[in-house]
This record gives sequence, structure tokens and C-alpha cells, in this order.
Amino acid sequence: MEGGGQRDSGKRAAEAEAEEYHCHDFEWEDLRAEVEANPAFSYHLTPFPTTAATSQPPPSSEAWRSFHRRHTSGKFFKERRYLLKEFPELLNSKDSAKVLEVGCGNGSTVVPILRSSPSMTVYACDCSKETLEKANEIVCNTKGVHVKDRFCLFLLDVSKETFPDWLFCKSCRNSCANDVDLVLGSSNSSMIEKLPVFLRDDQCCVGGIDFITMIFTLSAIPFDIMPATLERCVSVLKPGGLVLFRDYGLYDMTMLRFLPHQRVGFREYMRSDGTFSYFFTLDAVRELFRASVLVELNLEYCCVISVNRKNGKKMQRVWVHGKFQKPKSC
Ligand SMILES: C[S@@+](CC[C@H](N)C(=O)[O-])C[C@H]1O[C@@H](n2cnc3c(N)ncnc32)[C@H](O)[C@@H]1O
Repeated sequence: MEGGGQRDSGKRAAEAEAEEYHCHDFEWEDLRAEVEANPAFSYHLTPFPTTAATSQPPPSSEAWRSFHRRHTSGKFFKERRYLLKEFPELLNSKDSAKVLEVGCGNGSTVVPILRSSPSMTVYACDCSKETLEKANEIVCNTKGVHVKDRFCLFLLDVSKETFPDWLFCKSCRNSCANDVDLVLGSSNSSMIEKLPVFLRDDQCCVGGIDFITMIFTLSAIPFDIMPATLERCVSVLKPGGLVLFRDYGLYDMTMLRFLPHQRVGFREYMRSDGTFSYFFTLDAVRELFRASVLVELNLEYCCVISVNRKNGKKMQRVWVHGKFQKPKSC
């Protein structure tokens, strides 16, 4: 356990980094009007013909596994410095809070969370063993991040597999479990192969999760299986726990770059490597989370202008940003 001074300086550094982030450079409604009036973008707006899908695409999780096998250098790791500004709940939470990062990739979201508090425990899953190994290497080697007994990675295809019982077993779920003290092994890559958590004999599970982070993961899962995916996530959340959500928003610059043949559904596209990307409206997010019986605390578009350093071109980025709570009585 670290001393209070070290902890405070870690928190201050994270807060200072997060302060650099701006999220309302333009109005989403203005962008919408511009895009919808432009004939060059009309194919993005039309309903998706169900007959257009001639052959079934390979499962998106398989495409992500190949993606990570091809990109093992870790260059897709970029610490999400804005995370704590956007989700201050993580900074203000009780020290022993448990966080589950779904679709952790190389650990971009895990790092600022672990840095922000020395006693939060982070569980992180992904469908790719390669990216879990990379995340383990990056997180364990990041200066100022102490992982011993508080970082745990596991392999899971959240689009079709249920979460392991050691996170929140059925009997604890039914009786709305209180916290269970947890004994973790130290983080090393062999843990990914084995059961990643070592529970004491008298412990059935870790007692559920306080925060779930879903940061650019839900959009990577085909739209039709999003409701079931979200429900699986919510099942391991404690009553009163929060889902912290950030993902691509409708008319983000990356959506407008997709060509007509890359459309695989309404507002849904497949990249040339087979990975999916869905672009959310606030209503689409609202409907999905409401169906999982979550209560909306905050939901908005974040509209940011970023400038391409090479050619000076301005890019209009749109993300959706939301916080949802599992009812205390659930
Ligand atoms: C855009 S990355 C986001 C990574 C991370 N959340 C972050 O903040 O950078 C999406 C991640 O979701 C993972 N993913 C996609 N489909 C998945 C699935 N069905 N089950 C688990 N992880 C999945 C991918 O492997 C990838 O690492």
C-alpha cells in the first residue's frame, strides 16, 4: 500500500492531465444539418436494405483477434488522459472500488484508472489473448502505476460469453452481496492462461463490480447483439454501480469516410480488416441502456475539433458520453 503523499501527487497529476481536455468545440445539431444537406453523404442516411447483406461476415471478435495479431507493437496504446475529467466518479469513489474495463485493448483506459488511486482494483477483459498480453506488459511497465494485487486480466468474448462466476456468483447476485475481500496474485502474463483471481477458501466471488467502463468497445460489436452484450455486463454490476460509457457518435468524421460498400447496417460499417464500427445517436444509446434497466445520469455528444498535424486540416470528431446507474433495488 502506498503512502498518502504518493497517492495525492498521483491524483493531482491525473487531474492536471485531464484538465487539458475540451469537449464542446461545436454544436452537434449544426454538424447534423450540414451533413444531412450534403448530397455526397446521402448514402449514410438511407435505411439499410435488409437484402443488401449477401453473405454473413465473419464474427467481429475474430476480426479483432486478427487485428491484434497483426499489431503487436503496442502503437495503439494511447493513455486516455481525459478519462478522469470526464468520469470524476472514478476519482471520488471509495478506495476499495472495483472497476471492470470491457474490451481493454492495450490498456489505454486501464492506466489512468490504476494511476488515480492506489487501492482500486481493475479487472480488464478482451477477446484477444495478444492484446491482453500487450496490455499486461504496458500497464505493468508504466511509471507511477502499481499493479500488485489490483490488476487482473482475463480472456472473454463479451458478445457471446457470460462473465465468470468469480466476479459475481449467482447466489451473491441474488442476495445483493456486500464487498468480499479479495486476494490477487501478482500480475504476469501466465495469469491470462489460468484463473486470474485466487479467492480464499471462504470466498465464492469478488462480490460484484462498482464501475464498468465501456470505452469504444460497444461500437465494435454488431448492433443486433449489443442488447445481450450489455445485459451480460450489467449482470456483474452491483446494485447502485455505474456504467461509464464513451463511444463513436453519429456523423463523426470517421463515419463520413466510410464508402457505400462498407455499410453493413444502418449507421453500421465494416472496415477492410473485418472489424465493425457503429455510430451512436443519443437516442440509440438511451434505448439500449434503458432496455438493460439502467438509469441515465448523464448523456451528451462531445464535439471536438482536432487538427491534423501533417496537413493542418480540421477534423470534426463526435463522441457520445454517458453515465448510467443500476438501480439500488435491482
Ligand atoms: C477500439 S478498442 C478500445 C480499447 C479500450 N477500451 C480503450 O479504451 O482504448 C475495442 C476493443 O474491444 C475489443 N473487443 C471487440 N469485440 C470484443 C468482444 N466481442 N469481446 C471482448 N472484447 C472485444 C477489441 O479487441 C478491442 O481491443
